[in-house]
Amino acid sequence: MLKRKDLISTKDLTREEAELILETTFGMKEILQREVKKVPSLKGKTVATLFFEPSTRTRTSFELAAKRLSADVVSFTAQASSMTKGETVRDTVKNIEAMIVDAFVIRHRSEGIPNFIAGITDASVINAGDGKHEHPTQALLDTFTILERKKKLEGLNIAIVGDITHSRVARSHMFLLPKLGANLIFVGPKTMIPKDIEKVEPRIKVAGRIEEVIEDLDVIIFLRIQLERIESPLISSLKEYHNHFGLNLTKLKRAKKDIIIMHPGPVNWGVELAPEIMNLENNVILEQVTNGVAVRMAILFLLLSSR
Ligand code: CP
Repeated sequence: MLKRKDLISTKDLTREEAELILETTFGMKEILQREVKKVPSLKGKTVATLFFEPSTRTRTSFELAAKRLSADVVSFTAQASSMTKGETVRDTVKNIEAMIVDAFVIRHRSEGIPNFIAGITDASVINAGDGKHEHPTQALLDTFTILERKKKLEGLNIAIVGDITHSRVARSHMFLLPKLGANLIFVGPKTMIPKDIEKVEPRIKVAGRIEEVIEDLDVIIFLRIQLERIESPLISSLKEYHNHFGLNLTKLKRAKKDIIIMHPGPVNWGVELAPEIMNLENNVILEQVTNGVAVRMAILFLLLSSR
């Protein structure tokens, strides 16, 4: 079991804890391949998903994960709640907690909200993405997908391409992948890469173009430009961005044959990835989505089953 109440960031996750989550995920994935995809592990527990920002993958997979483990699930959407009448986040959480829930899964546009909520409730809190701070379960599901495909993490060369500055996924990877022995290369326009990011950790490097590094890569992860978190334009046009930082077959020809192409979604086809990438064997984007359920089952199980 995880000896912690909450999962807020990969920064404060130890290597042993991350490895425990990844190992447990293999078992959860086996459950998902059975005819009856349900076990009683969390029977009697209740999980509340509180999404103050839109989501397709994270919310659905957390809800499915909880249901596969036989927990009850309640879903809260800010736009359809009494927050529209002025109720605060704190009061919203305290009222849902009063109905007796065991875990909150929280997404919010402001950094620090899951951590704040963790401090005011006895329930477990799982960060499902807070502003540009962290998205730990996305980094864990990406890492599981890499491990499943490549059978190891140690020594792999993994590039993350795009809007690093505004990405909570990139930030969670920055703390997770080097901890597990992988080398991380951030690629993107200078306006989208935090200054001195390579000084955070010796396994992190920065490159200006995909072409500079593609021949050495085992994994390439693309990110959407986080327009909802950008106040002024950081690129001249999406077409130019695609030419410089998007992936097409011409660039891919220089890569290793077994490179895997990843994206946390939602993908803007024609911007991060040319549509011709969609049907390639190397594209594991939907495997990431499948693995999202298994990783979130592992996290819910490891946090809740002994509480
Ligand atoms: N990857 C991800 O967080 O997707 P959603 O925004 O659809 O949850």
